[in-house]
Amino acid sequence: MIDTIPRSRRLFRGRAAPARRPRALRYAHVIGWGMEVPSQVLSNSDLEAIVETNDEWITTRTGIKERRIAAQRETTTSLATRAAQKALDLADVLPSAIDLIIVATATPEHIFPSTASLVQDYLGATNAGAFDLSAACSGFVYGVDMAVSKIQTGTVNTALVIGAETLSRVVDWTDRGTCILFGDGAGAVVLQGSDTPGGVLGSVLRSDGSGWDMLTLPTANSRETYLQDGAHQQGRIYMDGRGVFRFATRVIGESIRDALTQAGLTPDDLTLVIPHQANQRIIDHAAKALKIPEDRVYSNVARYGNTSAASIPIALAEAVEEERIKPGDIIALVGFGGGLSWAGDGHRVDCRALPPVVLAHLGPPPGGLRLRRSAPPADPQVAAADAALADDVDSHGARLPAPPPRADQQVARREGRGVAGNGGVLSQCFTSPPLGANAPRFPLSAAAKRYPQMPPIPQLLPPRCA
Ligand code: COA
Repeated sequence: MIDTIPRSRRLFRGRAAPARRPRALRYAHVIGWGMEVPSQVLSNSDLEAIVETNDEWITTRTGIKERRIAAQRETTTSLATRAAQKALDLADVLPSAIDLIIVATATPEHIFPSTASLVQDYLGATNAGAFDLSAACSGFVYGVDMAVSKIQTGTVNTALVIGAETLSRVVDWTDRGTCILFGDGAGAVVLQGSDTPGGVLGSVLRSDGSGWDMLTLPTANSRETYLQDGAHQQGRIYMDGRGVFRFATRVIGESIRDALTQAGLTPDDLTLVIPHQANQRIIDHAAKALKIPEDRVYSNVARYGNTSAASIPIALAEAVEEERIKPGDIIALVGFGGGLSWAGDGHRVDCRALPPVVLAHLGPPPGGLRLRRSAPPADPQVAAADAALADDVDSHGARLPAPPPRADQQVARREGRGVAGNGGVLSQCFTSPPLGANAPRFPLSAAAKRYPQMPPIPQLLPPRCA
């Protein structure tokens, strides 16, 4: 006799089958973004006192003019937390509403606990799962892909994806081929599920481990033979610059094309590409490979250098601030780096999925859009945890003075609009130090004092300079 019970229910004969999750796929939209960079600036001319180099060489070969260096009390976790707070504030999302936190980083404070778990604690994101993702400079795009997959299947509604690095602590300050490239910082996005079509439309993740030794950061567990060959050191970046350059220029266009093809789009549809900020020559190559004008490829590598997993979300946050992204735009993100690994994706920015504060950043909201307010946390414990964050806690547990709210938040609150439904908590995020020319610079003579986590400067200098 033919068994008429559906195969999926046979296992549950005699007891009720579990409720089925609705299968309709959701759309995952980026609804908030934020960035945090240290205030200390290391310019090309500052580097001239550390290695034999000059501004002209660095500028023509890389496009980099300066990079940010974390202060002693700043860590990957503290930068990540501040970037995340800004993204949550902009998205008008409470920490307690986050389901998942992914931190892409190559410079975690620990292998375990994950940076993501520390961020989860500092944010008070009491309902979130959290893990770190290791895919070097491709990590942020990998993280977005992971979060999008969870959102699309309905198992997660709100995810925080962060790229955060303190590369200055793992750079070999005697190697002029690498130390000129890297900097510190963090960027974050909030992704949320919606029935509104759009958001992340397609993505590709790729790896070629046969090129593993072109870009490495050995740990305490690295093979002895690898660490004793004279070229590699535990906890220091090693790079075959020319090899990585060839690899990056090969994959940068290809991965965006593949992601766009998945979404039924072509490079001509792109308003803006946000590539990993490694080198201006590689960034320029993206435009050539995609046959699009150079001004459609975003770059801020001159100001931050290569911040690895943080570079794309930092660039995304700045692109929005500079009004380079508007509702309706198609944008693509592309990362590449150690592994070797690379990843690209395509997004449609849809205003119907965006919170009002984000829309205010992107341009005037279209007619008929209904403003959304987040409810205050119902759980008094969650409310208390959120309120405690107003004092802002860095990963050393030190309390920082609360900064004044942003001007637009003050106006919004006066007018009774809900900018951030969580009261004053997330307004603490807007404490970025001034960027660019206005940023405070540290005198080189004080560098050793400012970098106690690194060898003192005389040890950094090649013998002929000491
Ligand atoms: N200042 C001055 N001279 C330098 C220098 C520096 N900082 N670094 C290297 N040089 C010298 C080299 O010693 C070499 O001198 P030589 O010809 O006398 O031997 C010369 O400049 C050329 O070096 P080379 O390494 O061939 O330069 P390059 O044109 O390949 O540029 C990089 C070097 C690192 C800028 C380039 O290879 C690059 O950007 N690669 C990709 C790196 C990257 O993006 N990595 C991260 C990916 S996620």
